[in-house]
Amino acid sequence: MLSQQTIQTIKATVPVLEQHGVEITTQFYKRLFEHHPELLNIFNHANQKKGRQQTALANTLYAAAQHIEQLEVLVPAVTQIAHKHRSLGVKKEHYPIVGEHLLAAMKEVLGEAATDEVIQAWGDAYGVIANIFIDVEESMYDEADWREFKPFIVSNKVKESAVITSFYLVAKDGQPAPSSKPGQYVTVKVKPEGEQYTSNRQYSLSSNQNEEYLRISVKKELNGKVSNYLHDDVKVGDEIEVSAPAGDFTLKQDSDSPAILISGGVGITPMMGMLHSIASANSSRKTAFIHACKNEQVQAFKQEASDLITAINGEIYTKYEDQSGRLSAEDLANFVNEDGEYYVCGPALFMKSVIAILSELGVPNEKIHFEFFGPAISFEQA
Ligand code: HEM
Repeated sequence: MLSQQTIQTIKATVPVLEQHGVEITTQFYKRLFEHHPELLNIFNHANQKKGRQQTALANTLYAAAQHIEQLEVLVPAVTQIAHKHRSLGVKKEHYPIVGEHLLAAMKEVLGEAATDEVIQAWGDAYGVIANIFIDVEESMYDEADWREFKPFIVSNKVKESAVITSFYLVAKDGQPAPSSKPGQYVTVKVKPEGEQYTSNRQYSLSSNQNEEYLRISVKKELNGKVSNYLHDDVKVGDEIEVSAPAGDFTLKQDSDSPAILISGGVGITPMMGMLHSIASANSSRKTAFIHACKNEQVQAFKQEASDLITAINGEIYTKYEDQSGRLSAEDLANFVNEDGEYYVCGPALFMKSVIAILSELGVPNEKIHFEFFGPAISFEQA
């Protein structure tokens, strides 16, 4: 438990964090990688360059400071981050390293304002927050089919659209695919030739949860180091390292409320996992599959989604931006259902707009489930 004095000191530093939060975490990462370059095998170098990770960590610390007296409100966000940490192989012993460099960065940036009392208070608070993560992650490791990474063989590679290609992955040790929930992702660890460090990326599973293989479907991103490597260099028969499935953006399977699956672009991948799951459950669950993308050339799973929806008597609606603009309130109004559960995935702007439209149409917040691709921007949104 933190003392009342510590809590007061933490709260008093919130404005300082607001002002210097990103500066501190930028300095922190610089220090961290200077002292522990091996951690570059875990962190996403592209996110680092774009400053996204700095923002995520800064926001997390800021939120933690705000909620320091009732840390339980952070649990949903901690769970989401812990899934990602677990899928990346973040370990208990990494936490003191992060804590040490975070406090040192605070001292460097804040100078005299970082009194012994402030540093002590943040050290204590960090310890409390880190222990919450460690406990949640440890139980996730216990539940996962394996810890960290396991070698998989690419058994098939299928072009789904001009920009998206699927990779079918089977475990090298001959074991069946691990258990997963529809909507979950795996972390893929690769080391493109000439690179000094491994790179990790999360990809949603687009396959049914009961298949012998895992299927990920990857969009070739402009300058995307890993996606270009997978598209251009990885061949059938090659080996890649894969984590056990993770993530809490998952279809409620024990429910028969209507499922409205709304995706933009490559956000279609977790929706395919969910659609497969509904179709294979043979339930009479009302389902709508709504997809927005630029045009037909970049549309993945056109036939597969249509076949699955036909089999379950569901509804399908596709909107091509080049032809008729973005998803509008008018489009989505046709799918508003009092008991419906809404699952939304796609680029950040798409998500913001769809979530705002659903709210305007009267869908309660707790019925809207979503996952941003890329680091979660803030605790409040998680
Ligand atoms: C991701 C917070 C400790 C490694 C994240 C994210 C947050 C976060 C907010 C973004 C989540 C998302 O993308 O959805 C924290 C907090 C920590 C902590 C508050 C301490 C209490 C650690 C430790 C490690 C670590 C000890 C390992 C050395 C990572 C990595 C990512 C990540 C590799 C993925 C993002 C990327 O590579 O760009 N963390 N973290 N974190 N964290 Fe942590």
